[in-house]
Amino acid sequence: MSIMVPMYIGFLILLTLRLSIANVTSTPLARFAHTSVLVNSNLYFIGGELLNGAGASKDLFYLDLSVPFDTSSPQWTDLSTTSPVPFGSSWCTASLGGSYNDTIFLIGGLTFDQNNKINNPLVYTFNTVDKTWSSPKISGNSPQIRKGITSVFNPDDEKIYLFGGLSDETTSSSGSVDFNDFIILDTNLLTWTMNSFSSTPLKRTGHTLTKWNEIVVLIGGKEIYTDGTTKLVDMNKIWTYDMNSGRWSFNIAIDDNIDSRIFHTAVLDHRERIIIYGGMNDNPSDPRVSPDLAILDVKTKPFKWIIPISSNNAAPPLTAHTAIMMNHYMIVSFVYKNIKLAKVLLL
Ligand SMILES: *[C@@H]1O[C@H](CO)[C@@H](O)[C@H](O)[C@H]1NC(C)=O
Ligand SMILES: *[C@@H]1O[C@H](CO)[C@@H](O)[C@H](O)[C@H]1NC(C)=O
Repeated sequence: MSIMVPMYIGFLILLTLRLSIANVTSTPLARFAHTSVLVNSNLYFIGGELLNGAGASKDLFYLDLSVPFDTSSPQWTDLSTTSPVPFGSSWCTASLGGSYNDTIFLIGGLTFDQNNKINNPLVYTFNTVDKTWSSPKISGNSPQIRKGITSVFNPDDEKIYLFGGLSDETTSSSGSVDFNDFIILDTNLLTWTMNSFSSTPLKRTGHTLTKWNEIVVLIGGKEIYTDGTTKLVDMNKIWTYDMNSGRWSFNIAIDDNIDSRIFHTAVLDHRERIIIYGGMNDNPSDPRVSPDLAILDVKTKPFKWIIPISSNNAAPPLTAHTAIMMNHYMIVSFVYKNIKLAKVLLL
């Protein structure tokens, strides 16, 4: 990967992304609908649906990002044997949490165990120091168990903010229920708070939540109307939640055309822009969306979409993958057909 940027390229390079792919040669197996969480410089991967037909996985492994890994095969540390995830976990959300920034909270997902006919708890925690899983007792009104929920962690108040998702037989619910309640989990006191609002986004799945200062930005996914019909969300229609005031507001983004999508990822970069990647539309015969990569400038009023120029060596289209931001790299992980990590250098 070339990181040296000649100065004379000037402004154009600011909107140019260099993409490169590092092959993963050893384990782990190809998967999607997993979760990933960055704890200090260790990028943890949890569960996911395996493509070899084995279904939801209990795998737990991490990659130390403080060690360069883009030119050789990444050095995975596999904890699957010693500290497996307590259940085959997919379509969960995971966040950092706790007072020491060292605990992973794994929330929701396909919690119903078909073989043993038991329903797993809504929340598990993994302590990355002593490498143990537990199912914490959380006080307050516990939300209904759900999958396809998304979350952000605010280290300042040690709370995880959660929105959306649905319940069905895979989460031990008799019928199918979609959600637009806003749930807050205090990871220090271990308490739930449920918020209700007069003005809220519709029920939604397959969306992303991104923390930008005290604001949570809700992008994309599929909306469920009161009559049960569904529609992919217009990417220009963006709700934001203010963690200080506890209020939702609605925003319209302008400029470039971004296809509606579900199961994309979104990260905040060092210049306070939200970078979205991948996802699919709801047409199974032609799921491809365009562009794969887009930038939402949230510092401008109104918000503005920008489609950057990407290099020839672009990352492959991905859906139900994960993405994190570290230094100037967006690292998107795992694909349907190949085991790959793609690093996107954001200049
Ligand atoms: C990754 O693997 C493909 C196919 O095996 C190969 O063509 C490509 O050069 C590899 N890329 C890197 C960065 O090693
Ligand atoms: C946890 O992370 C936040 C944000 O990076 C930081 O302000 C805080 O000091 C960290 N807490 C500990 C105990 O390391």
